[in-house]
Amino acid sequence: GAAKPVIVAIDGPSGTGKSSTSKAVAAQLGLSYLDTGAQYRAITWWMVTNGIDIEDPSAIAAVAGKPEIVSGTDPGNPTINVDGTDVSGPIRTQEVTSKVSAVSAVPEVRARITELQRSLAASAEVGMVVEGRDIGTTVLPDADLKIFLTASPEARAARRSGELKGADVNATREALIKRDAADSSRKTSPLAKADDAVEVDTTELTLPQVIECVVTLVEEKRAGK
Ligand code: DC
Repeated sequence: GAAKPVIVAIDGPSGTGKSSTSKAVAAQLGLSYLDTGAQYRAITWWMVTNGIDIEDPSAIAAVAGKPEIVSGTDPGNPTINVDGTDVSGPIRTQEVTSKVSAVSAVPEVRARITELQRSLAASAEVGMVVEGRDIGTTVLPDADLKIFLTASPEARAARRSGELKGADVNATREALIKRDAADSSRKTSPLAKADDAVEVDTTELTLPQVIECVVTLVEEKRAGK
């Protein structure tokens, strides 16, 4: 019979190569892929677009159920739509990036998005690589494999400014440290390593090395080691 779907949770802060690694691992192993950060960015984009006061958690909570958020889970073409609009560009703006921690700290937002994530993972036929901050701890505590990616703040800032093409490394590092601190200190499912997660420090590794490391860990799991 068909093998049981394999669920891989990949958590960690930004700038660790989490998205690139997760997409590549999913593509290599024929698994679906879910970018949960994109979902939090999408709901934040909707709040900003609809003039919701980001400083007011109760205003955010009141409308948390309103936007329809649809994630495409093909690692070769991950998509994100809100109420039928493709928001893959707008969710990467500075404005959304600076507001996403406040929106994603609201428990009603997390409950809503977590439910979406669980139903997508449950529908994956071969399996899914799910990347985020709280996947191994809260969303999918029974995942077959949990990875926690880390890297020094310097390496993470350098990678992020490379992605943002020409952004100032110092400003990027400050913004990134601030967002990580907010994500790690919030009350509802903060960024954290699960006790049973494998920690991979990517500071001295190239992206292909990180991908190979995670692919090997998944293959070992599947082989029952
Ligand atoms: O991975 P990213 O930078 O696109 O994530 C954007 C934000 O979304 C991040 O600052 C915190 C939030 N997030 C979260 O709270 N829980 C997740 N599982 C994924 C992201």
